[in-house]
Amino acid sequence: MNVSSWLRKTAISRLDAELILANSLGKDRVFLHAHPEFELSEDAEKRADADCLRRENHEPLAYILGYKNFYGRKFMVTPDVLIPRPETEAIINLAKELKSQKILDVGTGSGCIAITLKLELPDSDVVALDISPKALKIAEQNAAKLGAKIAFRESDLLEKVQGEYDLIVANLPYVDKKWDWLSPELTFEPEQALFAEDSGLYDIKCLISQVEQRLTNDGAVILESDLSQHEAIREYVEQNTNLSFVKTESLAQLFAK
Ligand SMILES: C[S@@+](CC[C@H](N)C(=O)[O-])C[C@H]1O[C@@H](n2cnc3c(N)ncnc32)[C@H](O)[C@@H]1O
Repeated sequence: MNVSSWLRKTAISRLDAELILANSLGKDRVFLHAHPEFELSEDAEKRADADCLRRENHEPLAYILGYKNFYGRKFMVTPDVLIPRPETEAIINLAKELKSQKILDVGTGSGCIAITLKLELPDSDVVALDISPKALKIAEQNAAKLGAKIAFRESDLLEKVQGEYDLIVANLPYVDKKWDWLSPELTFEPEQALFAEDSGLYDIKCLISQVEQRLTNDGAVILESDLSQHEAIREYVEQNTNLSFVKTESLAQLFAK
């Protein structure tokens, strides 16, 4: 079977099919467009068929391919880590405006935020933590591959954190299991990375109550959450800390002393 016939027979989106086929051939999509008559080997076709079936069963494409792009870089992902989302890039944009020296990333997952910040702000010192040792292993591998020097720690929120930071960033779990728009793809991602009690606010509120003692005098905090949670988080921060709301970009809220 050739490229063009294989692409025609699949029941998944054209883009996903092209990425799966290109991956199974070890080529890129440009190759497929340039060579629609290219004959697939039996092995390549079998691999592509198997990956296509995984996608039909709602497995996220990033787990099938083994990577996801974030802020223009390729991050390895496995089912031990949340797949980086494009909206999380807003945290990077906000942090870049602050040019902080000492940065702490809470709930680092694949390491996408911490590693990107270190590479975009090379003079910064970045520490990244996660409660999941399996996630930390993936983050460490991504940091090594992308050449980012980060100190990784296993910690339940700020429990094992010492010292003070100019900037604390966090994309913690904030999904409420009761939301009725959750996609079947989410069942493939780690529960610990997605869901939180108290309408999705449990971990974020815990972090807010710990954050001030780890911030420098002019420190700042950036938190990602669902838009529907922004008002509640802003109120919680303003009632429980001396931080003030500065601005929002996409799903990220910036608070500063
Ligand atoms: C929503 S994922 C975000 C991953 C990554 N920062 C990103 O933006 O793609 C949340 C991460 O927080 C971690 N996490 C959950 N509860 C935690 C806790 N109490 N302390 C530290 N990390 C936690 C999870 O293991 C997961 O890696």
